[in-house]
Amino acid sequence: MSNKQIRFDSLCVKEYKDNRSTTPHQLPIYATSSFNFEDMEEGIDIFTGKKIGHAYGRYGNPTIDTVSQKLADMEAFGTGLDAFGFLTSSGMSAISTVLISLLKNGDAILTQNDLYGGTTEMLLKVIANSGIKSTFADLTDLDAVESILQQNRTIKMLYFETPANPTMRCIDIKAMVRLAKKYGVTTCVDSTFCTPVIQQPLSLGVDFVIHSTTKYLNGHGNSIAGVIIGHKQELKKQIWTTLKLLGTTCNPWDAWLINNGMKTLSIRMERHSHNAMAVAEYLDTHPKIVRVNYNGLPNHPYHEVAKSQMKTFGGMLSFEIDGDLPQVLSILNKLTFCTKAPTLGDVDTLVLHPATSSHLNVDRSIREASGITDGLVRLSVGIENSQDIIDDLSQALA
Ligand SMILES: Cc1ncc(COP(=O)(O)O)c(C=O)c1O
Repeated sequence: MSNKQIRFDSLCVKEYKDNRSTTPHQLPIYATSSFNFEDMEEGIDIFTGKKIGHAYGRYGNPTIDTVSQKLADMEAFGTGLDAFGFLTSSGMSAISTVLISLLKNGDAILTQNDLYGGTTEMLLKVIANSGIKSTFADLTDLDAVESILQQNRTIKMLYFETPANPTMRCIDIKAMVRLAKKYGVTTCVDSTFCTPVIQQPLSLGVDFVIHSTTKYLNGHGNSIAGVIIGHKQELKKQIWTTLKLLGTTCNPWDAWLINNGMKTLSIRMERHSHNAMAVAEYLDTHPKIVRVNYNGLPNHPYHEVAKSQMKTFGGMLSFEIDGDLPQVLSILNKLTFCTKAPTLGDVDTLVLHPATSSHLNVDRSIREASGITDGLVRLSVGIENSQDIIDDLSQALA
């Protein structure tokens, strides 16, 4: 029946098609939860994988899949690897989906003490409930890592974050891959702080890379999402099956926002790195600052490792103020240019106090052992004029 033949109240319901053949210049947002089949046979072919197509939004969507593949291509750029990507509803769901896909009851994870606080909490409070234990260690101590892997053959995954949030400690990716391969362990890296512009773990032999795209990849603070990128085709279906059954898929609107952000990623990362270096150099000579954690500083303990695996040193740094908790909070309250917000990687400069926010629920002894003291402040240096950032820090510290 044509639309001319149906009744008015049916016409209200009818979905109209745009029959023009012109191609949109920009990726459209496919705001649809499902996709029509030409006939029942096409539906069967798509469901059985005989035909490439879309069926239901939780399984993927043209906006989501296009952006996922672009991110995978960026991570694999220059490696010759045929990488795949899955956008997820958040960075946390990217991590949980990878872990639940690849590990089972009785398996264990080896990871570092200074992960993003939410990840540590997830490992202890959620993943542990499925019988998947986590061992926390100093992953910069290669002998210790080897001995743990040797002694505990239930460890099936080496999961790490480099640079770590918020200590900026760098983990030697190549060394982790070498040990993981020796003991038949899968590697997964959270490369959120770097983006593929700065660091490409796949090129160093890592199996999976995850990002909270909420941060630099979106870059504008208006989307929450994550991505899982891998290249072992035999594991692709396993990840996708978990993603669609857990329902951790991204939505097209957030995917579209990431797509916009990625277009300026390269120049943003250059400016973030340039500004962070200027701020780190300023803080490094300030009498009220005990320590600056920025891998770009030649005196930083992880400078050499960072140099070997990062193209620039990125926009993240942390520093320790000489003072007790009330004094530190009072200095932060004096900032007027830098924004006090619990995120990172946006175009504007963001300040966070880890001990009272991102690491609030991490045991004090665990966080302090990693240098996350009450005096530690994290700065996500934006792309503004660096002198305005320095002037604001200067007046607050004064
Ligand atoms: C390094 C890192 N990984 C993962 C996450 C979690 O990402 P999301 O907030 O998008 O779930 C965060 C959040 O701050 C993070 O900093």
